[in-house]
Amino acid sequence: MAFMLERIMTTSPHVLYLLIGFIFIFVLLKASQLYWKRRELLKTFKMFPGPPSHWFYGHNKEIQRGQEFNKLLEWAEKYPYAFPRWFGSFAASLVINHPDYARAVFARQDPKSMVTYRFFLPWIGKGLLILHGPKWFQHRRLLTPGFHYDILKHYVPLIVDSTKVMLDKWEKLVAKDAMKSLEVFEHVSLMTLDSIMKCAFSYQSNCQTHRELDYYVKAVYDLTYLVAQRTRTLFHRNDLFYWCSSDGRHFREACKRAHQHTEKVIEDRRKSFKEEGELKKIQKKRHLDFLDILLSAKDENEVGLSDEDLRAEVDTFMFEGHDTTASGISWILYAMAQNPEHQQRCREELKDTVGERDTVQWEDLGKMTYTTMCIKESLRLYPPVPAVSRQLNKPITFCDGRTLPKGSRVAISIYNIHRNPSIWQDPEVFDPTRFSLENSSQQHSHAFVPFAAGPRNCIGQQFAMNEIKVAVAQTLLQFEILPDPEKLPLPVPQVILRSDNGIHILLKKLNG
Ligand code: HEM
Ligand SMILES: *[C@@H]1O[C@H](CO)[C@@H](O)[C@H](O)[C@H]1NC(C)=O
Repeated sequence: MAFMLERIMTTSPHVLYLLIGFIFIFVLLKASQLYWKRRELLKTFKMFPGPPSHWFYGHNKEIQRGQEFNKLLEWAEKYPYAFPRWFGSFAASLVINHPDYARAVFARQDPKSMVTYRFFLPWIGKGLLILHGPKWFQHRRLLTPGFHYDILKHYVPLIVDSTKVMLDKWEKLVAKDAMKSLEVFEHVSLMTLDSIMKCAFSYQSNCQTHRELDYYVKAVYDLTYLVAQRTRTLFHRNDLFYWCSSDGRHFREACKRAHQHTEKVIEDRRKSFKEEGELKKIQKKRHLDFLDILLSAKDENEVGLSDEDLRAEVDTFMFEGHDTTASGISWILYAMAQNPEHQQRCREELKDTVGERDTVQWEDLGKMTYTTMCIKESLRLYPPVPAVSRQLNKPITFCDGRTLPKGSRVAISIYNIHRNPSIWQDPEVFDPTRFSLENSSQQHSHAFVPFAAGPRNCIGQQFAMNEIKVAVAQTLLQFEILPDPEKLPLPVPQVILRSDNGIHILLKKLNG
């Protein structure tokens, strides 16, 4: 570089001046572009007062890891409908805290905000979660039958088996040391991964006992950590800077590990298709699982999904299908530990429902009324997906007349909606009676939205509720759960809701 400059200097100094001139003009153009961008954003959010923000860092400095939920909630109390959140000086989105506002956005079909969702692209590609428009519609219509009630029914015994493997491990761990507290999030993640592999991919992995898939669970942890980190780090929003940074390198490496797993799943199935002959034969043999649907999908011109589309859906469902439910189940176990009287009431209900059997069946799931209320109350306090965001493809007018122009970004804070004091009385209190038949009929239609709402709601929500019910029921029938006051969890948004220090509980084996 220095050598080249020297050569340019000696041969023709004019070229150097020209170069400096170009750089100068480029910087000037870029600066004026950013200036206009900021003015535009300030204009966009002019109807929405919000917490003061630093001219350069925006709100990034106030929102430190570990304090994010507290800070956002504190602001939500001051601005109960919505407030702008600044990511530095040139990016901002409107954070929505109120169900009336959420209803207006959920009813529309705006694309996901690519400012944040694009960070996922190298990992889960353009699958159902990120797609938009006709292609999204086509894939959603294609995959919806995979979550039909008749199919979900067959999954219950598979989930029971996965849960039992986990509980047996726990029994051995507590037999050794009765008062040892257990970090459950990791165990539960392996259990839900085991389940989704068996149910959606008909793949027996033994990942809970042989730990051969620990690397995938670890990769997912790293990827969600790095995505969350990236939204907070100003310079990492730029691709060039990011891929040159050490976080960027770690991200690429973790993606590789994650893809290693999903590629193997696809590869194995393709092989077995070849071995077993035509797809038709398989279709007769067993119900179509998710992977069959993807592999046999044909559009009106008899063209199947491209390899890239297929991989994106497998990566999307492998991730969404286990990490979210792991979060849900782990936080519910914590909530049960904190609320022994509700825990005991659930256990009595479950004993009555299950009777002499020691396993939950499909028919039981509709009968565990009180347990379901506790599960919902926990999903209210600890929503596994704490926020979603959109980029408006046309202007919006909210119920109070305030508007946002086309192109604005909005983030619906499910966490803040679920704890909004103008909607929920004593929002911090765990009170399952909020979800009694009588009380929930009085609720605002969008006061409780753990699975989002409208056309882009969660396709797996029935699967997820079944899995959570099975896991909670089997656990409460086998153990009493106690809190560990020394290691209280610290909720952090890491794409999904995690705890910065894990989720620790004590388990006591029940007799008989
Ligand atoms: C407790 C567990 C779960 C929660 C709380 C949850 C929550 C959500 C939420 C809030 C969305 C909307 C995301 C957005 O707007 O950006 C969503 C979408 C989605 N979820 Fe779930 N989810 C759960 C479990 C699952 C499971 C088990 C699967 C798959 C088997 C799944 C697959 C998906 C997919 C594919 C989408 C995108 C749907 C679309 O846009 O058409 N989720 N989920
Ligand atoms: C409805 O909610 C209130 C307040 O949380 C509670 O006191 C009451 O018992 C609930 N009603 C039912 C039928 O659960």
